[in-house]
Amino acid sequence: MTSSWRKRLIKNPVVDGLAHPSTRFNPQRLARRVRGKRVLITGASYGIGEATARLLGGAGARVLLVARTGERLAAVAEGIRADGGWAGYYSADLTDTDQVDELLAAIDRDEGDVDILVNNAGKSIRRSFELSRYRDYERTMAVNYLGPVKLLLGVVAGMRQRRTGQVVNISTVGVGFPPAARWGAYQASKEAFDTLFRSIGLEARHDRVLFSSLYLPLVYTRMSAPTPQLREGMAPGMRADEAAALVARAIVQRKRVLAPWWFHPTEVAVLLLRQPIAALLSFWFGHTDDTRSARLTRGEPESAGEDADEHP
Ligand SMILES: NC(=O)c1ccc[n+]([C@@H]2O[C@H](COP(=O)([O-])OP(=O)(O)OC[C@H]3O[C@@H](n4cnc5c(N)ncnc54)[C@H](OP(=O)(O)O)[C@@H]3O)[C@@H](O)[C@H]2O)c1
Repeated sequence: MTSSWRKRLIKNPVVDGLAHPSTRFNPQRLARRVRGKRVLITGASYGIGEATARLLGGAGARVLLVARTGERLAAVAEGIRADGGWAGYYSADLTDTDQVDELLAAIDRDEGDVDILVNNAGKSIRRSFELSRYRDYERTMAVNYLGPVKLLLGVVAGMRQRRTGQVVNISTVGVGFPPAARWGAYQASKEAFDTLFRSIGLEARHDRVLFSSLYLPLVYTRMSAPTPQLREGMAPGMRADEAAALVARAIVQRKRVLAPWWFHPTEVAVLLLRQPIAALLSFWFGHTDDTRSARLTRGEPESAGEDADEHP
């Protein structure tokens, strides 16, 4: 398909409307739900987390922003305050268990109980197994699984005791897809956390704590930008502010699951057509290549090229 046809198709409102869930929510109801509430948002320095912080901060929440890049968090918090909202921020690396302990202690000391947790910080890598290092698997699990587990351990018990609270997990439609070549490290870590999250959610609902899973399709952020096929105009997707609107919808409508209409049918098709889909995906793998940045780490020591690969 020529690129101008592809762009016209992707920009078509019908295609756009089918690609992702409706982003409509009632702003007054959002304000009623979050006003004065302490909302902890991880990965708030960029992308979906930043947009969510601005949206919920603008709706009257006391947003607590977490990520590694302190200057970015300061700028996001400053922007929210300049618009009349309230924002605090904590610079922390969620892969470092000591830092997560310090983060939880600081929030407890400064703010007290967390009312809503948006588990959003994440890392993706698109790299074939042949080019991968052990470190790639370690760090995707550390950011996408172990860090969030440690946070949940620190926050959910209090919510259950108070018999109120919500945890929103920013997951991906990829957890319902068949294993895709080159995406294994990312997909496995997101699937692992999705499974655990849903399991804990079953326990927490007895104490009226709501666990909401958001299965997002492609969102144009710095995470997806390094893969040319995933850039705006190349594949249907959402902007970060539209993804933030889905977080708002999950809060307003108290959703347990929010996903595009095609997410669950895809899960069924994947089960029924496992073999032909695997053959197709393997064929596709053989006709495509790792990107230049994914190949950069060849021959490097385990610790090198930390963020120089596919996705930051
Ligand atoms: N973009 C998509 O197409 C897409 C689709 C479905 C789901 N998602 C999910 O959406 C979430 C947000 O992704 P995004 O697209 O907004 O990506 P992004 O723009 O790269 O943002 C990722 C955020 O996570 C933070 N982060 C990364 N490593 C961290 C660490 N070790 N400790 C603390 N914070 C860390 C980053 O901040 P610092 O670098 O400052 O630490 C940044 O704020 C992820 O969980 C992702 O899996 C994305």
